Amino acid sequence: MTARILGGKIIADSIKSEVAEDIKSLAALHGIKPGLTVVRVGEDPASSVYVGNKVKTSAELGINSEHVHLDADVSQSELLATVDGLNARDDVDGILVQLPLPPQIDASAVLERIDPQKDVDGFHPVNVGRLSLGERSLVPCTPAGVIEILKRSDIAIAGKHAVIVGRSNIVGKPMAMLLLNENATVTICHSRTADLPSITKQADILVAAIGRAGFIRAEHIGEGATVVDVGINNVSDTDFAAELFAPEEMEKRLKAIENRGFTLVGDVNPKEAMERAANFTPVPGGVGLLTVAMLMKNTVEAANMRRNL
Ligand code: GUN
Repeated sequence: MTARILGGKIIADSIKSEVAEDIKSLAALHGIKPGLTVVRVGEDPASSVYVGNKVKTSAELGINSEHVHLDADVSQSELLATVDGLNARDDVDGILVQLPLPPQIDASAVLERIDPQKDVDGFHPVNVGRLSLGERSLVPCTPAGVIEILKRSDIAIAGKHAVIVGRSNIVGKPMAMLLLNENATVTICHSRTADLPSITKQADILVAAIGRAGFIRAEHIGEGATVVDVGINNVSDTDFAAELFAPEEMEKRLKAIENRGFTLVGDVNPKEAMERAANFTPVPGGVGLLTVAMLMKNTVEAANMRRNL
């Protein structure tokens, strides 16, 4: 079997055009232009790329976006004061504080300071609680994007066994809640799970969000499963890359390693997943492309909810 590739681009583009339409109607009917502020602290190179994408996509869709960049040595109280200022501004509908934050900052305290109505990351305890109660809320972008890929690729969720590997607050836990809300039977596995392959093999839908390059292999995947790869890892070792990619793909990957020093690899071994799964989301080009689209959707949702629309 060779898996069907579930590409993220077409789906992300559809969501973005739907969001652009919603933004036009908000302007026409209510005179509103949604606003998103992204706060970045320090010089994490990956964060800089992610924030750049968020700001650029906002502009393309008609969202007023703003990038607040603070020094790496900013104090906790200065960062909290920045959040307070954004909470108080009527032109700001969405606030996103890019993670990771430097060690002197208590990230939970910062995330809890964001007005839950403006929490477009869906990380505030109020939104986490609402999601687990099945109420309308702002939902974390990456797992929300996974649901969109599954639904828009006509992959049934209700009644299926969804197994999530990884229990982070950003992906694993909200992913479990979203799949449960879609009536899947949900299992969450993690680093302490005994005999992981025996559980992951049962999955109709297997979501890998562990943060270890190529960790999920053939032995973890049941024949005909849908495998969703949420991982983003940098691989620079060419011998390891050769274990992950078929020869034609390997050529591209070697070029990337030569040019940039690394190639992007998910948490799943793509060569082995392609042989066993029925559906597979690639890295890059899969789930990652949905995250920004879902952030845009959340910003419009926040603008609506704040005005009871
Ligand atoms: N860093 C990596 N992923 C995310 C995310 O989804 N939200 C925020 N705020 N920071 C991140």
